[in-house]
Amino acid sequence: MTSDQAKIENKFRQHEHVSLNSLPIEEDYGAQTQLLSDEDKENLFEEDKLDEGYWWYNPVKIFDPNSIQNQFSNDTLQKEFEEKIRNNQFSLLDIPANINEILKIINDSEFSYEDITRLVRQSPVLMADFLKLANSVIYNRSSRLSDIRVVLPRLGVTVVKSVLYLNSAKINLANQPIFKDIATSIVEHSRTVAIIAKYLSQRYYPNSDNAYMAGLLHDIGKLAILKELTVSYQNRMNGNEEFNNDFLASLFSSFHEKVGSLIATSWNLTPEIHQCIAFHHNLPDISECKENELELHLAALIQVSDLMARLLNGTCEQEGISIFQIPAGEIIGLERDVSTIEFLNHVPEIVSSN
Ligand SMILES: [Fe+2]
Ligand SMILES: [Fe+2]
Repeated sequence: MTSDQAKIENKFRQHEHVSLNSLPIEEDYGAQTQLLSDEDKENLFEEDKLDEGYWWYNPVKIFDPNSIQNQFSNDTLQKEFEEKIRNNQFSLLDIPANINEILKIINDSEFSYEDITRLVRQSPVLMADFLKLANSVIYNRSSRLSDIRVVLPRLGVTVVKSVLYLNSAKINLANQPIFKDIATSIVEHSRTVAIIAKYLSQRYYPNSDNAYMAGLLHDIGKLAILKELTVSYQNRMNGNEEFNNDFLASLFSSFHEKVGSLIATSWNLTPEIHQCIAFHHNLPDISECKENELELHLAALIQVSDLMARLLNGTCEQEGISIFQIPAGEIIGLERDVSTIEFLNHVPEIVSSN
């Protein structure tokens, strides 16, 4: 690195740490997820130094044997989940009648926004969500919008649909206080990933609306898992200490992509959104994706955005993992150079102001 480059980089270094709702559920980011050897750690240690001082800095820590926690496993329940998924008995997320009506209209290529405005107006929750999003920094930098007739066309079909789908998922869990906090964290995390994905799409993906939708829905399977637990396991959960965060983490990590894929099928989501939900942690082999390159790019974009969201709120549990070293970063073309660093330095501000 030249001294000029170093100077410019220094100028953009940020020490501020943005605090968001925490989601203590471990995620998987591909190549760096296996246990690291001492030699690997040594090499990463050197690489780490390049990120020091930036918001995405995630150093390899000195090994602390006390940090190893017992991996929770509940084999019986894992097997039951597998069985249910195989036999299509998993409780998926229902779409409420009012949202279904709007979706039916919007899925007709001849629809007009006036047709859905009347229905949206009947739901204060939907109204509030659309207005908030349309006035957020990523969608509006001019005067405040308050007319839903202007807001809906401004957001466009894809984004309107993604808000409708996420609301459907939330409604499925609305009467389940047991998972209220965790469901709220998942929704908040999904919003953050959507915002980051939309921002990154300016440089790394050609369709920002698809990026937003994929971010908003990528972990939808986790909400369905919570629903399945409340529907079928309420009695077993009551007073059972084994049903804790570690337990949830193991279920999420094993099943949320599979369950999300089932939801994508039942909701008839587009192939690229479906692939993204199904493979955002385990990207398919690049060589197998020659014909569906854009789908792979979207899944990779979401994986990078997901990692960034965790690094931002301090819930990334994989030490040493770097946005510049995961295969997903390479797939979307994320390179450590001055202009990328300048671009990425805006992420905390974009996230916190939305
Ligand atoms: Fe995920
Ligand atoms: Fe996620």
